[in-house]
Amino acid sequence: MSLVDMYPPTFVKDSDDIGSNPTLNTPIHVIIERRYGRRDILRGATAASLLSLFGGGLAGRAAVAADNPSTLTFEEIEHGIDETHHVAKGYAADVLIRWGDKVSPDAPDFNPLQLTAAAQEKQFGHNCDFITYMPLPQGSTNSESGLLCVNHEYTSTPLMFTGMTADDAQDKIGKEQVEVEQAAHGHSVVEVRKEGGKWQVVTDSPLNRRISLSATKMKVSGPAAGHDRLKTGEDPSGTEVVGTLNNCAGGSTPWGTVLIAEENFHQYFSGDPAKTDQADSYKRYGLVGEPEYAWGKFVGRFNVEGEPNEPNRFGWIVEYDPYDAASTPVKRTAIGRFKHEGATTVVNKDGRVVLYTGDDERFDYVYKFVTAGTYNPNDRAANMNLLDEGTLYVAKFLEDGKVQWLPMVHGEGMLTAENGFSSQADILIEARRAADLLEATPMDRPEDIEVNPVTGSVYAVMTNNSRRKPDQIDAANPRFENTAGNIIEITPPGGTGKDADHAATEGTWAHFLIAGNPTWGSTLYGKGTSSNGWLSCPDNVAFDNKGRLWIASDQGASQSKFKTGDGVWACDTTGDGRALTKMFFRVPTGAEMCGPAFTPDSKTLFVSVQHPGEDKDSTFDKPSTRWPDFAEGVPPRPSVVAITKEDGGEIGA
Ligand code: FEO
Ligand code: CA
Ligand code: CA
Ligand code: CA
Repeated sequence: MSLVDMYPPTFVKDSDDIGSNPTLNTPIHVIIERRYGRRDILRGATAASLLSLFGGGLAGRAAVAADNPSTLTFEEIEHGIDETHHVAKGYAADVLIRWGDKVSPDAPDFNPLQLTAAAQEKQFGHNCDFITYMPLPQGSTNSESGLLCVNHEYTSTPLMFTGMTADDAQDKIGKEQVEVEQAAHGHSVVEVRKEGGKWQVVTDSPLNRRISLSATKMKVSGPAAGHDRLKTGEDPSGTEVVGTLNNCAGGSTPWGTVLIAEENFHQYFSGDPAKTDQADSYKRYGLVGEPEYAWGKFVGRFNVEGEPNEPNRFGWIVEYDPYDAASTPVKRTAIGRFKHEGATTVVNKDGRVVLYTGDDERFDYVYKFVTAGTYNPNDRAANMNLLDEGTLYVAKFLEDGKVQWLPMVHGEGMLTAENGFSSQADILIEARRAADLLEATPMDRPEDIEVNPVTGSVYAVMTNNSRRKPDQIDAANPRFENTAGNIIEITPPGGTGKDADHAATEGTWAHFLIAGNPTWGSTLYGKGTSSNGWLSCPDNVAFDNKGRLWIASDQGASQSKFKTGDGVWACDTTGDGRALTKMFFRVPTGAEMCGPAFTPDSKTLFVSVQHPGEDKDSTFDKPSTRWPDFAEGVPPRPSVVAITKEDGGEIGA
């Protein structure tokens, strides 16, 4: 088969949607050309490899194929938006824990009209995001008893407090309410147990714990610990920070610790960054004196004019031990400072640990960190500071399908004192500027990056980038005004599986999925993707134990444009069902889907329903949904949902 047959130009014109989506009009054959070369395509030289890459073809039309080659057996749910959640037939999707539910055994009952910081410090925080399930006891694969570790990324002020709208919330909010917001940020650990097929929170577990922005002391470690740029009035040592901020996604380590990523920390700081000595650096991180929150009015360290170094103390990967409720979380500076989406670890074939992480901003980068030391499976304590020493790399995606990992090492290349980096600490604190100088590839908002446990391939999720201009497209970012996102597959040298060399400075990449409605003519899916099977704005992903990809979406305000709520779609990564996504779960209106996490037996999928009811003009008093309680006077409550199969089998089996 020639490649022209595979990507017929008529496909591009076969669209009734291009008129309303003029931004997504890069034809798929042009995308393919950019990655594989026009000459190769014309002579069909790479047809075989393309066939294997794309699983034999592309979705031409939004219609259900008669012969569906997917290994996923569930019946798809339908696109749509309404006030509640939906899951495929034969599955149960039960709300497990909601904003305000007890985490500490002595927490008070949730009372939405009497929120206090003291109560919130003991209750489940707001806007749950990343989830990881850590089996009990540590080191086991117990899938019916474990710790659910959950991030609380941010707070939706007008949905938490009465008498506010999105427009006036930051003018009306007072000090006590700001303190509630700060306590509602961070992370929760709750012991959970499956009994009679249903999950319960163990409310009196001594392992239950809240980690918050306002009350949890953290250490700073690695090359930037104690650096002058991390010193403040409250912490003249530059090694101790109270709290963690905007924890988006994360990961876990083979030694049983949890990694939580600090993402959009910039939006909390008031004051004029131009009045500090780090104005340029702060600008590169989006601090321009226009915060989304009013915290700086009430809490001194969130005003850069009074505490100019405080922003440098956020934007890190934080590691903590969930099996010790008294453990001190540690900010690991060796991994660099940016808007970390997540952190996924894999033990390389030589025993070193490789951590993949993305910087979620338009035109920012994909990174990986390779430890200097090796993982010791027989000595947990010996691994506890592995993430303090190693090499940070940033990715450059070449037109010919190679990916280069560029080391970010002080004294090498452009990363010298002449360019303003007097030490490795400077490089880590200003990782973005260092990566700019190395000419890394600016991506369409890198969100989750995950390693397929079966094949070893790496999946890097780009959620969208509406600001990419036609003259800014490249092979890896092939659409301008990319409002629907895409997923890139990276294969390390040594192929996949046990021979994969994740620590290598080279690899190859290919497009796995280019999201959006197939009728736009610029998408890439497995053949047979249905009118409900397409998705937009992929964000967090997880693998089941068969190596199939489960994709959560975050469309933001474009929900109404794309006419479906966010949710979870699943697909094979190999075989004829490769990238043939099927819709499995849908969130209520206004919400985003976060945190997909499986138990080791793949019989439970936990998901976070984040910011339900966060629609335009939706408020505490008049929300667009009162999910999940549907009780008068109770606002929508971000919650974790446990999905199980009614027959007790594996999810998607
Ligand atoms: Fe918090 Fe990148 O999503
Ligand atoms: Ca996210
Ligand atoms: Ca993930
Ligand atoms: Ca997102």
